Amino acid sequence: MALLNILCYPDPRLHTVAKPVAQFDDKLRALVADMRETMYEAQGIGLAATQVNVHQRVVVIDTSEERNQATVLINPEITWASDERMKGEEGCLSVPGIYDGVERAVAVKVKAFDEHGQVREMEAEGILAVCIQHEMDHLLGKVFVEYLSPLKRNRIKTKFLKAQREDA
Ligand code: NI
Repeated sequence: MALLNILCYPDPRLHTVAKPVAQFDDKLRALVADMRETMYEAQGIGLAATQVNVHQRVVVIDTSEERNQATVLINPEITWASDERMKGEEGCLSVPGIYDGVERAVAVKVKAFDEHGQVREMEAEGILAVCIQHEMDHLLGKVFVEYLSPLKRNRIKTKFLKAQREDA
């Protein structure tokens, strides 16, 4: 296993639209294992392949206290979303240190494959539902700061560009 490099906003590669996984092979399973390790190391609750510059529809999530119940979602599809929506605070491993409110469906049903090609449908609510929607946005090239006002988004963009220039 290996730790993967996480792209940092406003890296343009974060806006790539991921392609569906076609082969459930050892290469895919290695990617999932690396993503899981990278998510735990970074202390995140979710990671999309887009964030490690792999543009395939692969997500790993773990919202458990124990950090030992990773859920793998490959080619995920939301089959139902509640009409009830709620604004909650979100953060992102690609936008470190920034937390802000985003409105999401309170509950969703998602159909996805695991890394062995087994399909399953799960119902999620609360933090897990939010996390699924956040990670699936990544697969469409969308970062949560795009839900914020242009003023806030530009402020965040400027801050990160400046920090990256200073690091370079
Ligand atoms: Ni994120």
